Amino acid sequence: MKSLTTVEDLRAQRSAWVQAGKTVGFVPTMGNLHNGHMQLVRAAKAECDIVVVSIFVNPMQFGKNEDLDNYPRTLDADKEKLENLGVDAVFLPSVAEMYPRGLEQQTFVEVPGISSILCGESRPGHFRGVATIVCKLFNMVSPDTAFFGEKDFQQLQVIRLMAKDLSMGLSINGVPTERETSGLAMSSRNGYLTAHEREIAPVIYQQLCDMKAAILAGETDFKSLISTVSAHINKSGFRTDYLAVKNAADLTDATAASTEFVILIAAYLGSTRLIDNIHFSK
Ligand code: PAF
Repeated sequence: MKSLTTVEDLRAQRSAWVQAGKTVGFVPTMGNLHNGHMQLVRAAKAECDIVVVSIFVNPMQFGKNEDLDNYPRTLDADKEKLENLGVDAVFLPSVAEMYPRGLEQQTFVEVPGISSILCGESRPGHFRGVATIVCKLFNMVSPDTAFFGEKDFQQLQVIRLMAKDLSMGLSINGVPTERETSGLAMSSRNGYLTAHEREIAPVIYQQLCDMKAAILAGETDFKSLISTVSAHINKSGFRTDYLAVKNAADLTDATAASTEFVILIAAYLGSTRLIDNIHFSK
């Protein structure tokens, strides 16, 4: 597995693959790789000749009071996992390589509307940071297909819209959420949970499953469903940031006539903010 740290080396390598007629799959990450990331890599390997993974903790998508400095960095273990899965190249740029003019001067990409609801409302500027770095990485790697986890459902839709609006000409593939046996969605942030919090954490997915069952059984009063479930989740020890029933395609509010649903949640357990979602058709 090649370790590349500069855009120049990455582009040279990319040209060699293209000249050899290979398709390139890309998995962008912020490292601290877990089984969810491994599933993205497996999906990329199944579909593309060459797989590139990037590891870059992107300062632009963190708010001032967020966990940028404490974000878990486990580079040696990450590289070993990628090597074992047969990844062709890992791209490990520095902040200076990605933002040579500094963050303040950086041209940005913003996908309007969808970026300012849900996580975008709680984390202003977050999706601008995500869209900008993913756009830059796409320009550097020029993948045929990029792979993102459905756990970050809103992020996936932001990236899909960006790629469509800016005619990027690549495929964006969503990969189903990988879960612990308890149902807890795998996330780098699970590492922040205490043993006690880990016992409580599966409640959010259980509640999403119950909400799905209620909607499939005919519930259309989403407001009262949300309020009952939020109260239950908070009673279990969470502080719900948002819980919403949306149309899966564009994250507008679901109505009684909706057919493709996604229920999304963000909730704090202690100081850890967990997100999850469930999507289904009716
Ligand atoms: O989902 C993530 O890990 C990040 O938001 C991403 C897509 C790698 C951009 O920094």
